[in-house]
Amino acid sequence: MMYSEKVMDHFMNPRNVGEIENADGVGEVGNPKCGDIMKMYLKIENGIITDVKFKTFGCGSAIASSSMATELIKGKSIQEAMQITNKAVAEALDGLPPVKMHCSVLAEQAIRKALLDYSKKTGVKIEGLDENE
Ligand code: FES
Ligand code: FES
Repeated sequence: MMYSEKVMDHFMNPRNVGEIENADGVGEVGNPKCGDIMKMYLKIENGIITDVKFKTFGCGSAIASSSMATELIKGKSIQEAMQITNKAVAEALDGLPPVKMHCSVLAEQAIRKALLDYSKKTGVKIEGLDENE
C-alpha cells in the first residue's frame, strides 16, 4: 500500500493533538468498519473556530485525516467547516488508498458532531446539521 508524503508527515507529526478544556463543542465518532475512535474539540468565538484539537485511537490514515482536518478548519467560520467533506480531507493529503477512504469519513463526522454539540449547548442554529449526525 502506498501512502503520500503528506499522509506520512501528518501521521508521524500530527498537528493539534490533545484536548481543549472547556471546549465549546466536542464530537466523538466511531468507525463501524474497524472500531477506531476519533474525538474532536472545538473552541468557537463569534462564529469562528479559533482552536481545534483531536485525539484519535486508530490507524495511521485516521490520525493523518484528523490532523489534516484540524488544519483545514482552524481559523475558519462554522459554515466553512461545514463544507469540509472526507473527500476534501483526503485530497488535502494528496489522496488515500481506496481501502483507507473510510478513515477520512471519521474526520468529517467528528467535525459535524462537534459542531452539533456546540449548537446544542449554545442554541446557535447551524444550517445543514441535523439531530442524527
Ligand atoms: Fe486496524 Fe483501524 S482497523 S487500525
Ligand atoms: Fe479504521 Fe482507518 S482503519 S479508521
